[in-house]
Amino acid sequence: MKRTEIVAALQSEKTGQDILVKGWVKAFRSNRFIQLSDGSTIHTIQAVVDFEKFDEALLKRVTTGAALAITGKLVESQGAGQKVEIAVEKLEILGDADPEEVSKTVMQPKKHSLEFLREQAHLRFRTNLFGAVFRIRHAVAYAIHKYFNDRGYYYIHTPIITGSDAEGAGEMFRVSVLDPKNPPLTEEGKINYAEDFFGKETNLTVSGQLEAELAALALSKVYTFGPTFRAENSNTARHLAEFWMIEPEVAFNDIYDNMDLAEDFLRYICKYVLEHNADDLKFLNDREVQEDQTKPQAERNEMSLIDRLNFVISNDFQRLTYTEAIEVLKNSTPYKKKKFKYPVEWGTDLQSEHERYLVEKEFKKPVIITGYPASFKAFYMRQNDDGKTVAAMDILFPGIGEIIGGSQREERYDILLEKCKAFHIPESEIWWYLETRKFGTVPHAGFGLGFERMVMFVTGMTNIRDVIPFPRTPKKAEF
Ligand code: 4AD
Ligand code: MG
Repeated sequence: MKRTEIVAALQSEKTGQDILVKGWVKAFRSNRFIQLSDGSTIHTIQAVVDFEKFDEALLKRVTTGAALAITGKLVESQGAGQKVEIAVEKLEILGDADPEEVSKTVMQPKKHSLEFLREQAHLRFRTNLFGAVFRIRHAVAYAIHKYFNDRGYYYIHTPIITGSDAEGAGEMFRVSVLDPKNPPLTEEGKINYAEDFFGKETNLTVSGQLEAELAALALSKVYTFGPTFRAENSNTARHLAEFWMIEPEVAFNDIYDNMDLAEDFLRYICKYVLEHNADDLKFLNDREVQEDQTKPQAERNEMSLIDRLNFVISNDFQRLTYTEAIEVLKNSTPYKKKKFKYPVEWGTDLQSEHERYLVEKEFKKPVIITGYPASFKAFYMRQNDDGKTVAAMDILFPGIGEIIGGSQREERYDILLEKCKAFHIPESEIWWYLETRKFGTVPHAGFGLGFERMVMFVTGMTNIRDVIPFPRTPKKAEF
């Protein structure tokens, strides 16, 4: 008999027929009711055994975590909570799970801390919580590809190993095959990368943008979706050393088109998850409500997870310039009461306390800030006519902070060349990027969405380590 997935079995109208399901035991109550899960849905199917008909030794092996194949009749359920259940006819143990061992793991059915779950990242997939998170993570990835595909964008695979650090987005991880104990040296006594695998210094990429731009200046609408790496020593709930980024790049778009695209894109993802992951979302929503009840009023969410997603779908984002944002902050209560740790001064970057104030207290909705001072933004951002600011945009989300960073790109060769000099980027390293500005250069714009930050927003998870299967953070690369 062919295996039926539990998601299909639960929706099946074919009561009275025999089916075969396979999965892992979540619980076995009263020597009679098996709750079986196969990951196809957050729900388990109930399989009812008549213990008199089965060997006692066999039933003893039906323990939490064990893998089973169950054949039986799909019948209407007598109990509350499920429409159908299986009257077990045949029960096969595919893999045992020693209860003694299971009791030391996150599979033990009780509440575990997220920290403990992280220590067992190899087993946390088995929990309802991480089942829900990773089904949604998949849906978000799929929705992103669908969004761009449906709109005529091309998916470009940009390199993971790169020979340039032009982006300047952060510290990089070196890629080298040289013997660290005995590296070849140059005459000046420096490591001789000419003898390394690629004949030059190479690193893991921090962004696929520069290469995506090259493609956009021919294919018009492209996007990347790949892993990116940053070796910053950031031990926050929003930073990973290895994370995934989506970077659309569009020829002929200006900064306003870029904002419109980003807003539409983020709304689409929220809508997609609401429409396709209702069961998992409800689970996460209810879990958050329960967690909130254990917290003081001030730390509780003002809106439920599902309400937050609907809110993003139905409200325009707040758009303002960096200069306006500084004004708002200077007029704010925390500023006047000296509650901000970092200075609020035109020309200094906004810190997360400032961003949080704008999003969570002042506007209470997603915010797009544009027109940042050129001094702390990347070299490729288009210079505004005021000569001081660039056509940058950051999108800030409640509870997340910066979810998107992007800009209109500098398409004017001379200005870009000047910028490279000012940023100490050697022409010999960036010649290929500069060259696109010589042959039919056009205005273009793009942005980068942090995939995990988006998954945090749609799942309500508050630590980025809990939305990627195997997080890489400083001093942690287990599994
Ligand atoms: O703002 P960032 O650094 O922008 C870029 O890399 C541009 N090249 C994007 C572009 O214009 N094509 O990064 C983009 C986004 C951030 O807004 C954030 O959501 C996420 O990537 N991000 C991180 N996510 C997790 N861990 C980190 N260490 C991250 N650093 C950035
Ligand atoms: Mg940024």
